[in-house]
Amino acid sequence: MLGLQLPTDPRWVNIVEKNIEEILVDHAYCEQKAASTAISFIIGFPEKTELVQAMIDLVAEEMSHFKMVHDLLIERGFALGRERKDEYVNQLMQFFPKGGSKEDHLVHKLLYAALIEARSCERFRLLSEKLEDKQLARFYSLPVPMADANKPIKNGKPYSTLKAN
Ligand SMILES: [Fe+2]
Repeated sequence: MLGLQLPTDPRWVNIVEKNIEEILVDHAYCEQKAASTAISFIIGFPEKTELVQAMIDLVAEEMSHFKMVHDLLIERGFALGRERKDEYVNQLMQFFPKGGSKEDHLVHKLLYAALIEARSCERFRLLSEKLEDKQLARFYSLPVPMADANKPIKNGKPYSTLKAN
């Protein structure tokens, strides 16, 4: 369904379990970057009303995801920390040709954003199924609410306060 040609190596979860703080910080920045990218579409293509409307909703949604992960960092006694270089994104961008029209540039940015989202979705499922840390596994298994992370979504409790049984 996601159209990814190669699955993530399941051993990746073992690496995650040894670096929970690092993974959560990286995840938080991924959400922030998704929001920032949506803002860059608004600034770059203000004449595309439909796109601007969609990006306004996306900024709110991605920042709500950022808050969920940031809340989890705090709950676990961590802080956000500095952003690290994102080699995956840098390498992915090199697959797209340089130059071209403004429209080409928009399509390329939307395509690589879709690839990043597809890989994230695949990895969240892997985390939800394989993590031994059951609270974190549950965090990654929950449906992501739109726009407002503080709305009750399950059993009347906010997303960030749910604990595994
Ligand atoms: Fe997100």
